[in-house]
Amino acid sequence: MDTRPIGIFDSGLGGLTAVKEILHLLPNENIIYFGDTGRVPYGTRSKETIIKYAKQDIAFLQSKQVKMIIAACGTVSSAAGHIGNALPLPFTGVVKPTAQAACLATKNQRIGVIGTTATIKSGSYKQAIHEINPGIQVFMQDCPLFVPLVENGFTSPDSEIVLSVIRHYLQPFQQADIDTLILGCTHYPLLYHAIKKVMGKDVFLVDSGRETAVYATYLLEKQNLRSNNNKKGSCTFYVSDSIEGFTQSANIFLQKNTAKTVAYIDIEAFSQNLTKK
Ligand code: DGL
Repeated sequence: MDTRPIGIFDSGLGGLTAVKEILHLLPNENIIYFGDTGRVPYGTRSKETIIKYAKQDIAFLQSKQVKMIIAACGTVSSAAGHIGNALPLPFTGVVKPTAQAACLATKNQRIGVIGTTATIKSGSYKQAIHEINPGIQVFMQDCPLFVPLVENGFTSPDSEIVLSVIRHYLQPFQQADIDTLILGCTHYPLLYHAIKKVMGKDVFLVDSGRETAVYATYLLEKQNLRSNNNKKGSCTFYVSDSIEGFTQSANIFLQKNTAKTVAYIDIEAFSQNLTKK
């Protein structure tokens, strides 16, 4: 039995898609979440900057004595996922669990991947899919306007602004005959209903936040790190910018009042020197 918290981070709201699922799968676990809202978006930045940010985010979570770290961010997982290998605690990104779920879901062996520019440029999902099944055809598209939409609260499937941005990016998939679409950035599941409306009911959407949470649950179990406590776990959120904006969106998405559990931290004060194995 290990009651230390699980550490989860993302550039902003996106990682809440993993938090939501963990709250559902593991209600007795304690969670520390960091959303780097002062430096979002990550997906338009250079690999060097993403690595620097990821190291500081991990250093912050390590300072909270977490038992596991989830990089609930497609961009970090793609550009800086290797950092996790050197850590003295279990670590997972989103790419492998999500690719695995998509390979299981596709019937016609044609998968679409959408993500941030950094994620798509890295080719990480394509590589992970081909490690599982080299015969699958992969179609990729970056969608740089999706993260600003989500961070500004534009997620409704009834909003013409939201739908026209989605149509703009997803048009190429209409001809590609995909039956599965990876939402390769954890912000994108917040646009799930709007994306579904554009892609239609025959295309299965793979939620990277959800799949990562399912995989993290398996990892905790395998490494004997479950809390097995009967007490309901706590969830504490940290952000690197205004508390209000984050709280409002988090409350709507998680359907719980997070107001008293969100705090500000100065992420730049955390060093890039990680505690290693
Ligand atoms: N949610 C993140 C991802 O999964 C980051 C998006 C961003 O900051 O650009 O890629």
